[in-house]
Amino acid sequence: MDIDQVKSQFPIFRQKTPTGKDLIYLDNAATSQKPQSVIDAITNYYSKEYSTVGRGAYWPANVNTVKINQVRSKVKNFLNAQSEKEIVFTAGATDGINKIARSFLAPKLKSGDVIMISQVEHHANLIPWQELCKAYGTELLVIPVLESGHLDYEWIKQNLSERVKLLALSACSNVLGIKNDIKRITTMAEVTQTPVLVDAAQVLSHNRVDVQEWNCDFLVFSAHKMFGPTGVGVVYGKQSLFNEMKPFNYGGGIVKEVTFEASNYQDIPHKHEAGTPNIAGVLGLGAAIEFIKQLSQNETDTHLEELTNYALSSLKAINGLKIMGGEQDKAPVISFTIDGIHPHDISTFLNEEGICVRAGHHCAQPLLQRFEVPASVRVSFAIYNTKSDIDKLVMALLKTQAFFS
Ligand SMILES: Cc1ncc(COP(=O)(O)O)c(C=O)c1O
Repeated sequence: MDIDQVKSQFPIFRQKTPTGKDLIYLDNAATSQKPQSVIDAITNYYSKEYSTVGRGAYWPANVNTVKINQVRSKVKNFLNAQSEKEIVFTAGATDGINKIARSFLAPKLKSGDVIMISQVEHHANLIPWQELCKAYGTELLVIPVLESGHLDYEWIKQNLSERVKLLALSACSNVLGIKNDIKRITTMAEVTQTPVLVDAAQVLSHNRVDVQEWNCDFLVFSAHKMFGPTGVGVVYGKQSLFNEMKPFNYGGGIVKEVTFEASNYQDIPHKHEAGTPNIAGVLGLGAAIEFIKQLSQNETDTHLEELTNYALSSLKAINGLKIMGGEQDKAPVISFTIDGIHPHDISTFLNEEGICVRAGHHCAQPLLQRFEVPASVRVSFAIYNTKSDIDKLVMALLKTQAFFS
């Protein structure tokens, strides 16, 4: 793959940073940069075809209604869902998880029930469940993570029971970058008929996902981590579950008939999409999926694997640098600490060199507590990163270390 050609599609890399450096963007696990095609889809909508959707019989409304339906089909194909009815647009992964918590799980819960999550979860896949536990007297069971960053699958097997009303898990830790074996987990959960929600926020920019193969009941993601815009995402849900659930929100756009006495609702997926959607966002998501599809999956895999391995070996050569978790089943996400230097100081120094990394707890405080580190530095790669970015990172880290010693 011609990475220079791919990178040239991202206009942000054409400018210098405020410190006069080339931008080296290594915070892709937080959010990825946007290719011109995604930016164009959004500006085209606002500047040439602006309207609402689904309600007008005039031309831009028709154009946009058709386009939104096309994006729903693209998402369906992207996830290999069975039907467009299984695709609901949301404001992002966090929004999706909260909606499932409220509309699917809350009405079923009673004291003594259990919700199972894991120690690697982002706060987005922890706090909504914690709040349900508080409200309904439900127990939160937490799957331990091993030193390697892998979940303790034996523990899951032993602790899954019919009391577990939902298993909510990320497909990949946003801190350790270790991918979880979702198929193995859904197979175990089938025995106890426990629905499984997959937080796929960290995987879709670099991994193909097949919801039928995984056999998960729900899956959420955000567009902004896969080259799309912020403020838009998707909940995938099996049709039977989407049908049985209460609407995610109440209001316009979801109803068949309304009187002051009662309202009845449209079929899925529209039943779950009250209000005017984030039309620009959905169109941008469609362009992001097209962008990903035109990259060869094999070449993307090879490039990101090579970068990750190169980064792991280069970073390990730095004295006092400790990488969190192991190297098996590794996504392009690496968290580390350096003896004697606070992660925030590291990121501030790297910023001077035009290098963007994340420092802190990465919205996964319980995981950092498990690894007994208050904060770490995280570097995460996307298709536009190169080995030269990693060389510059390592040089800047050595310079930072020299300053502090
Ligand atoms: C694993 C994981 N889940 C959920 C989220 C939340 O995504 P958003 O803030 O787009 O809703 C993130 C964001 O960092 C994440 O990494």
